[in-house]
Parts: sequence; C-alpha cells; structure tokens
Amino acid sequence: MPEQSINFDSNPPVAVNEYDNMAQIALPGYEAMHTMALSFLRSHLPKEANLLIVGAGTGMELVKFGQRNLAWQMLGVDPSSNMLAIARDKIQQHNLSQRIQLFHGFTQDLPSTPLYDAATCILVMHFLPDDGSKLALLQSIAQRLKSSAAFILVDVFGEKGTREFEQMAAIIKIFWQEMGMTPEKSVESLETIHKGIHPLPESRVLELLQQAGFGNIIRFYTGLWVGGWIATKN
Ligand SMILES: C[S@@+](CC[C@H](N)C(=O)[O-])C[C@H]1O[C@@H](n2cnc3c(N)ncnc32)[C@H](O)[C@@H]1O
Repeated sequence: MPEQSINFDSNPPVAVNEYDNMAQIALPGYEAMHTMALSFLRSHLPKEANLLIVGAGTGMELVKFGQRNLAWQMLGVDPSSNMLAIARDKIQQHNLSQRIQLFHGFTQDLPSTPLYDAATCILVMHFLPDDGSKLALLQSIAQRLKSSAAFILVDVFGEKGTREFEQMAAIIKIFWQEMGMTPEKSVESLETIHKGIHPLPESRVLELLQQAGFGNIIRFYTGLWVGGWIATKN
C-alpha cells in the first residue's frame, strides 16, 4: 500500500474518538445526507427488511436507521476494529443489539447468503484506487443484494488536477474554516485527504455502478465535492 494510504486503524485521517465531531465539520451536510439516505431507504423498503451497511465506521447509519425503523435488521461491515468498537458502544447504548450485528472485515469476506434488501456504502469507496479495487467493492455488494434492492453510494468525487476539482478543494478549505477549523488545521487536513483519497469523475462513478450491476442511478446529494447516488440492483 502507498505510504499515504488512509487506514482507520493504522493511519487514521482523524483520531477515531474525534471522528463523529470531525465528520459534522468536514463533510458538508453530513447529517442531512444521512437523513436523505434514510428517506430513500424508507421509500423503497418494507417495514421488515435486512440491510448491509458497508464501511459502518462509528455507527452513524446503523444507529440512525435502526432508531427510525423498528423492524429493520442490519449488518455493519468494517475493517477497522477501532471504528467498530465505537459503533458497538453506541448500539448497546441505544438498545439496538438485537437487530444490529457487526462484522469485522471486508464485504468480500461475507458469506454469499443471506441476500439483503438494501445496502449503503457511504464515504468508503473514495479510499480505494481505481485499479479494480473500487469495482471489486461494488461487485461484492451487488452479489449480496436481492434483485431490485436499494443501494446508496456516497463519495468525494471529481477529477484531481482539473480546474473544477481544485476549485472545490479551495472552497472546502474555506468551508472548514467557516465550520471552526483553524487555517493551519484546514491546510493540513486538506493535504491528508487530498493525498489519501481517489475520487472519480461522475461519469466513471456511473460506469462502475453499471458494471457492478446497478441501474436506475440518480444523484440525490451534492455537498461541494461529496456526491451521493441512489440505485437499484438489476
Ligand atoms: C469515513 S468513514 C465512513 C463511516 C460511515 N459510513 C459514515 O458515514 O460516517 C470510512 C469507513 O470505511 C471503512 N473502510 C475502509 N475501506 C473499506 C472497505 N474496503 N470496505 C469496507 N469498509 C471500509 C473505514 O474503516 C472507515 O470506518
């Protein structure tokens, strides 16, 4: 792995116990985006459904979705034991342990059954290079979904080096300062994120989604350089 690769255990972009606060500051419309994702899922899914939450992290999706849907079952998957430890505490605090399971590892390592009614992959795929790793992640999710299942992808997007992307990065830096970050921290954070992520132009995001077996793709959210797409499994 390249030295600057972000790994939430060995080389986290932010201390894991600061992740929740930092996500609210660093990701434009973080909470609202999750509420939009939840709204799509509620519009698509029956009262009883099983969901696969890829890159569950500290449990944002698990707790938010679990509290609003009393009969949904969820499996949260994540390779970071430190992030999952925080998710586990929150799940217990919210009495959701009966309906939410955690899996330490990658989606590829999950058994091929059961098939899920929906999946999310929020703020995960941009950490992987476009060398087959992004497609493999999407395929590993698609393979575990029922036909017509709902899917949500959220990622930093755009093409590094283009005028548009660099302009977005410049705006993000000021956005972070507006959200309370010091100018020094905003410069340092931008460097860490910029080096550690592999964003794609939207056309390539759509191509990968289609190749992995998703259709009915709509961009439902844009927060400066973060984009969100809803889709269904073919
Ligand atoms: C920025 S956090 C996002 C957490 C959560 N989805 C959210 O919206 O706040 C990214 C998470 O993805 C996990 N991750 C990184 N690579 C992954 C992969 N290949 N498959 C699943 N999760 C991965 C990281 O360990 C980390 O917990």
